[in-house]
Amino acid sequence: MVELTEKIVLAYSGGLDTSVSVKWLQEKFTADIITVTVDVGQKDDFKEIERRAKETGAIRHYLIDSKEEFVRDYIFPSIKANALYQSKYPLSTALSRPLIASKLVEVAEKEGASAVAHGCTGKGNDQVRFEVTIRSLNPELKIIAPVREWNLSRGQEIEYAKEHGIKIEPKKSIFSIDQNLWGRSIEGGSIEDVETEPPLEAFEWVKPVDEAPEEAKYMDIEFEKGVPVSVDGEEKEPVDLIYYINQVAGMHGIGIIDHIEDRLVGIKSREIYECPAALCLIEAHKDIEKLVLTRHELFFKEIVDSQWAWLVYSGLWLDPLRDGLDAFINVTQERVKGKVKMKLYKGNFRVVGRSSRYSLYDLNLATYGISSKFDQSLAQGFIELWGLPSRIAHSISKMKKDRK
Ligand code: ARG
Repeated sequence: MVELTEKIVLAYSGGLDTSVSVKWLQEKFTADIITVTVDVGQKDDFKEIERRAKETGAIRHYLIDSKEEFVRDYIFPSIKANALYQSKYPLSTALSRPLIASKLVEVAEKEGASAVAHGCTGKGNDQVRFEVTIRSLNPELKIIAPVREWNLSRGQEIEYAKEHGIKIEPKKSIFSIDQNLWGRSIEGGSIEDVETEPPLEAFEWVKPVDEAPEEAKYMDIEFEKGVPVSVDGEEKEPVDLIYYINQVAGMHGIGIIDHIEDRLVGIKSREIYECPAALCLIEAHKDIEKLVLTRHELFFKEIVDSQWAWLVYSGLWLDPLRDGLDAFINVTQERVKGKVKMKLYKGNFRVVGRSSRYSLYDLNLATYGISSKFDQSLAQGFIELWGLPSRIAHSISKMKKDRK
């Protein structure tokens, strides 16, 4: 039998890193390169990306539209988990990685490839997320990380591209950008100076506050079993719903996150994000949870939620712990139904009203008015017992101190 040429499947974005990777892999492994671009809502020019992949030498290119799957199986679970890494970052990049990794593996298996490759550096989280997922799904596949192995600076990559006749597009941004439906991550350039405000050029999705409309916008979001189903009275497909909120909230100056983030590899980095829909939806979701869940559930769920965010941030999407956390979360979400009204105005957003048929809010108990059904005489006994253990402990430690 004739020995077949080796095939390598490369995650391809069309940028400099992945374009030089095509050539590098070809040369180093005398392999056929198959490129894969996964559409997770980044709104790139996918025709142009395919053209570039082929021009650079890919024998085949796959464009996989995973927008719906991304929302249904990754973004929605993250809303249910109120997922914010270090209480700030909605995991927009992190959530997309296991999905992209699974598509790489699918294509590699279909093509009978022996290896998959990605363009991540050795300093970030994405390499971990890709590789842990790929190795879990198919331990036979070799993983190659050209940019990490090669360790070239941007200037050296440009030089290599010139020498090999790889046309590089004029760089769209001076920053390193990763974007999808759930957000836009901005790294590098002047952002690395943690003392300085990020420049206006960093932003694309969020309007500067002084250009935002003078009038407040009220936005109604309806939830069913913990996920948004309609906005402003209109049922929307999940993908459209998220595009819509990104657009509306972004226009009102909402969605910028400026974060000192602890990366998995131990580095602290300054990260800027634009995540209008993610911030609004998580805030709205948290609010309605407070209406329908008991305080015991809420207290425990906060712990579960932060574990969920940590697990996903750190590349362990496929760990069975996530299934366990999701099982708990999903039980609570059965009652997370209802409507939230948000007010968006010049960079601010807050919930101004909420309703649910599962609401635990009882006006007759809460009111300061005459109609209250709350029996205040019970409070005295409650306080007596509630404080009992603390009171005893305090008086004993006081006694010991006095004796000294
Ligand atoms: N720090 C974020 C994360 O780890 C964003 C990474 C952005 N990636 C990029 N290639 N620019 O999820």
